[in-house]
Amino acid sequence: MTPLVAIKNLSKSFPGVKALDKVQFDLMPGEVHALMGENGAGKSTLMKILAGVYRKDSGELCLDGQPTEIDGPAHAQALAIGIIHQELHLMAHLTAAQNIFLGREPRKCGGLLLDEDAIHRDTQALFDRLNLSMPPSTPIGELTVARQQMVEIAKALSHKSRVLIMDEPTAALNNAEIDELFRIIRQLKSEGVGIVYISHKMDEIQRIADRITVMRDGTYVATRPASTPMADVIAMMVGRKLEHAHKSIPDTSSNEVLLDVRGLNRGRAIRDVSFTVRRGEILGFAGLMGAGRTEVARAVFGADRIDNGEVRVRGQVIRLESPQDAVQAGIGYLSEDRKHFGLATGMDVESNITLPSLKRWLTWGVFLNRSAIRVVSQTMVDKLRIKTPSLLQTAKLLSGGNQQKVVIAKWLVQDCEVLIFDEPTRGIDVGAKSEIYKLLNDLAAQGRAIIVISSELPEVLQLSHRVLVMCEGRITGEVSGEAATQESLMALATQRD
Ligand SMILES: Nc1ncnc2c1ncn2[C@@H]1O[C@H](COP(=O)(O)OP(=O)(O)OP(=O)(O)O)[C@@H](O)[C@H]1O
Ligand SMILES: [Mg+2]
Repeated sequence: MTPLVAIKNLSKSFPGVKALDKVQFDLMPGEVHALMGENGAGKSTLMKILAGVYRKDSGELCLDGQPTEIDGPAHAQALAIGIIHQELHLMAHLTAAQNIFLGREPRKCGGLLLDEDAIHRDTQALFDRLNLSMPPSTPIGELTVARQQMVEIAKALSHKSRVLIMDEPTAALNNAEIDELFRIIRQLKSEGVGIVYISHKMDEIQRIADRITVMRDGTYVATRPASTPMADVIAMMVGRKLEHAHKSIPDTSSNEVLLDVRGLNRGRAIRDVSFTVRRGEILGFAGLMGAGRTEVARAVFGADRIDNGEVRVRGQVIRLESPQDAVQAGIGYLSEDRKHFGLATGMDVESNITLPSLKRWLTWGVFLNRSAIRVVSQTMVDKLRIKTPSLLQTAKLLSGGNQQKVVIAKWLVQDCEVLIFDEPTRGIDVGAKSEIYKLLNDLAAQGRAIIVISSELPEVLQLSHRVLVMCEGRITGEVSGEAATQESLMALATQRD
């Protein structure tokens, strides 16, 4: 069988970075081929070349056995190559339907008028196919990240591609949504579509992929059947031995409550939520997507108005009108929506890490201690293995996962006593995950109070001294870190009233 795509010896450099060095990859009709590797390995770059976003420097790319030069995204689309980008590309002020048909809107009256009905109808058909209940006329800006991701998927499906690239399509999806996506992937497979699947979630790869290609530092490592033991795949990805983080035992000598949240209410999103976090403690928040965990975090951080309730830090009731109030009171929040609330994409890595805590780097309150800034940024870059040609690289030029690491670093160096991490390892590779776990343990050991919100139960179990479970805006249970199991947390997460 002729491969749909065959790539050989392909290289690509950016200023200061050899992103791809003589890489090979092929894709057969009806196969799901997983592309794996650490953050910055070159996965997105390789796929952007196939999708016409970047031009290759050298090497060979064949489609159906024919050497082909792909001139740009429109050309790739004409060649039936579709891509779901890692970063969401939707326009916030347009509706879901308008986004899906942007630039190729069906027209009526001899092309003079947009055929809004047709756009609406076709979008509804796509949503039905994805089992997505949501009006096509919803403005994108009003959707959660998960919903936006589903719209991106619908958009890619609308192109009827023969080669479909999915770059971390499930980063923000819940299990039910992932099941829908996988159902569609299987259907596309049976129609002979070739799918490139990029994800850092090992269980997904095992469920859906036929073959795996591993990349490391811009080079090709190997291609194996998906039945290969994951430990072997990870070893190929990281090329070093992973250290496992150990759960630190909470310092029982400190019973000091740092964060005390009482009777928090906000519509139906937050219903009478009360909890405390002690110094040195990591409190996990488990629950299904939409259970209200992010809402609680945003309320405690002053990002959303509450109906009633109060938040105390070290016993003092704090004002909660804006995130500035929260930061002043020593509360930090790593948002799950990094694109809007985390990264200054136009600034360099060093500024992103240190600017929010600038006061710390002033000598006598006026002189900026540049060498201290450099040292602390470099330490974070090393510890989190942020892949960047220099501290002065513009943040938006880093790979998706490395951008996330920068946002995490920013909160890690801040002097907040209470830190809330919302999905801290989303899009982060396996190696860096364990580094982040270690850093969170260190922060707790230093006497901070830490909240970790995560949809990955193994992560909650690995990190937390205590776990709160939410469902439909309420806290449905509390389990100690030792006693918690995936089953017990799931039971509480689905305890509706
Ligand atoms: N436009 C660009 N300009 C400069 N450097 C870039 C650009 N795009 C990517 N890079 C660099 O190329 C390398 C590979 O990045 P790429 O985005 O392909 O990684 P990735 O494997 O997709 O990682 P992740 O898992 O984090 O998404 C990185 O070092 C990145 O910083
Ligand atoms: Mg990527």
